[in-house]
Amino acid sequence: MNIHSLRGFRDLLPPESTLFACIEASAREVFALYGYQEIRIPTIESKELFVKSTGDTTDIVEKEMYAFTDQGGREVAVRPEGTPGVVRAYIEQNLSQSGRNGKYFYIGNMFRAERPQAGRYREFTQIGAEYIGNASPFADAETITLLVRLLEKAGLPGLSVEINSLGCGECRKSYREILLNHLKANIATLCEPCKNRIDRNPLRALDCKIDGPALAEKAPKLTLCAPCAEHFDRTRTLLKSSGVEFTVNLNMVRGLDYYTRTVFEVKSSALGSQDAVAGGGRYDDLVKSMGGPQAPAIGWAMGVDRVAMLLKDKAPATAPAVFVIAASKEAQDAAFKILGELRAQNISADFSNLELSLKSQLRSADRSGAVIAVLLGEEEVRNSVCAIKFLKEKREQQIVPAAGLITELKQILGNAPTP
Ligand code: HAM
Repeated sequence: MNIHSLRGFRDLLPPESTLFACIEASAREVFALYGYQEIRIPTIESKELFVKSTGDTTDIVEKEMYAFTDQGGREVAVRPEGTPGVVRAYIEQNLSQSGRNGKYFYIGNMFRAERPQAGRYREFTQIGAEYIGNASPFADAETITLLVRLLEKAGLPGLSVEINSLGCGECRKSYREILLNHLKANIATLCEPCKNRIDRNPLRALDCKIDGPALAEKAPKLTLCAPCAEHFDRTRTLLKSSGVEFTVNLNMVRGLDYYTRTVFEVKSSALGSQDAVAGGGRYDDLVKSMGGPQAPAIGWAMGVDRVAMLLKDKAPATAPAVFVIAASKEAQDAAFKILGELRAQNISADFSNLELSLKSQLRSADRSGAVIAVLLGEEEVRNSVCAIKFLKEKREQQIVPAAGLITELKQILGNAPTP
């Protein structure tokens, strides 16, 4: 067989898979502190959902979406991001009437046919948060603080938070013309895709992966209307009082069409060119534009693959506490029974192959990282005892009565460092 995984898709093996699980578990704890509840949305949705929400001038929809016609002739897409699905569920399930606080988190794999490189995959995991139904700057400050606390809890060092405001439809109306004129005057410096889409969405040129940073640097800046300026001001004040350090980056536009007002990104210089660990922003008009009620919202998503890259030296070692070995054929069934009894008592236990030689089983025990090996031979079974061998420093062996094995192990393991 010569079948390989696809380019940009990968297997997550231990210890990286364990690291993913730890990041997700610590995120769940922080979400609970902030009143967020989990939402699980479908992996495949109608293509139109992403075209209308993520936006038809975005790279994601124009070039990166895995879209196809299904067996029923429907145009569908594998989700490139979570926000559209959450918004669809909010409208379809009438969640504005649920009486709850509109705070949802999700953990799931997303798919974008981008050019793969370190930290950029075609299938990747996002942990995302959406807070729907609160227009006030308190929601902005809380949502960004939540993200920062969550990354801190995961153990991430050296992060920087950047924020900006993209204003509302009103402030953007006149800015659109000013920016379009500027881009047209500099049309020769634009890449082909940008040349083709500036009329439809001039803002997109500023986050183009090819020439975006240079363009954004020189482009005229948006002037916020008074309510948007006040919202941005309040958000910054509240963030400061929450102890969140940030810088304002007036060049940040973000690569999705639905944003209004506050946008933000968390970056790590240790990641190289794919330096965004997380990003998000306010989307006050999206729910309504998708056919729902007027429901201002804000959210973010973080790339778990990128967080795991930054934490790769901290991947927790996983090892059983006890390794069970049968030293003779007659002891195999008794050894297998002990494995079950240990697990029933919440003691993690493993074995290799009870039919292999003692030497081979001992080698596996050492490799497993277990604290203790329990050895059973014909004589031990006959005398209703077990041999316990310490696999760490002292490596000594002692005999204990089979009836007292669990108590003895609990006592030893209670004192032993967790593997
Ligand atoms: P986004 O900036 O497209 O936002 O993605 C958020 C994060 O997902 C990025 O900062 C990055 O860490 C990770 N990410 C994106 N693409 C890849 C990739 N190809 N490989 C690995 N990691 C990747 C969103 O997706 C919005 N839905 C965020 C949001 C929620 N805005 C409001 N609510």
